Amino acid sequence: MREFVLAIMLITFLTGISFAAGGGDITYKVKYIGDVTFSHDSHVTGRGFTCDDCHPVIFPLPRDKEKKRTMAEMRAKKACGTCHNGKNAFDVGSNCYICHKK
Ligand code: HEC
Ligand code: HEC
Ligand code: HEC
Repeated sequence: MREFVLAIMLITFLTGISFAAGGGDITYKVKYIGDVTFSHDSHVTGRGFTCDDCHPVIFPLPRDKEKKRTMAEMRAKKACGTCHNGKNAFDVGSNCYICHKK
């Protein structure tokens, strides 16, 4: 019994660590207009989203770093545009420089 309780505590502890870290900061290189950094911290800790709000439906894991998404896809409510649609969060059709930083 004691071993069982300790094992559960260990699992909670370990998964707790990986959840707190989430996927960290993800930087997308974008020419001319500037790079975009997605912050797990600000979405998960700051706004209370849970992992399954985004994974795996909107953003499949493991991440495919070669996969590039376009603003046209995002304006069609995919990827960041699922939420950044002017209703749930600021719209991808404007507000360029909230996301893109030189
Ligand atoms: C608001 C949306 C959102 C939420 C909520 C979210 N993620 Fe992510 N996550 C992303 C995005 C965007 C990426 C990058 C995916 C891509 O570009 O294909 C990502 C990538 C990741 C990666 C891959 C990192 C890498 O560099 O390869 C891991 C691991 C991950 N997330 C874990 C988590 C965990 C754990 C949680 C819950 C604590 C979580 N995410 C919550 C949006 C989110
Ligand atoms: C599950 C919904 C959801 C998804 C998916 C999502 N966001 Fe957000 N994001 C939000 C909400 C809600 C806010 C708060 C926005 C507001 O107040 O208008 C926010 C805020 C932000 C901010 C403001 C600064 C900050 O960090 O708090 C940036 C930048 C941002 N998101 C970038 C992104 C990028 C880039 C992606 C795609 C890789 C993305 N988001 C995907 C919901 C989401
Ligand atoms: C919610 C955050 C967000 C907002 C707002 C946003 N973008 Fe983006 N944009 C991104 C992300 C993330 C990528 C990189 C996607 C990738 O590489 O997979 C990107 C990629 C791009 C690209 C390269 C891909 C393509 O479609 O040609 C251009 C150009 C671009 N953005 C222009 C803009 C302009 C112009 C605006 C304002 C009208 C804007 N973006 C608003 C997040 C955003």
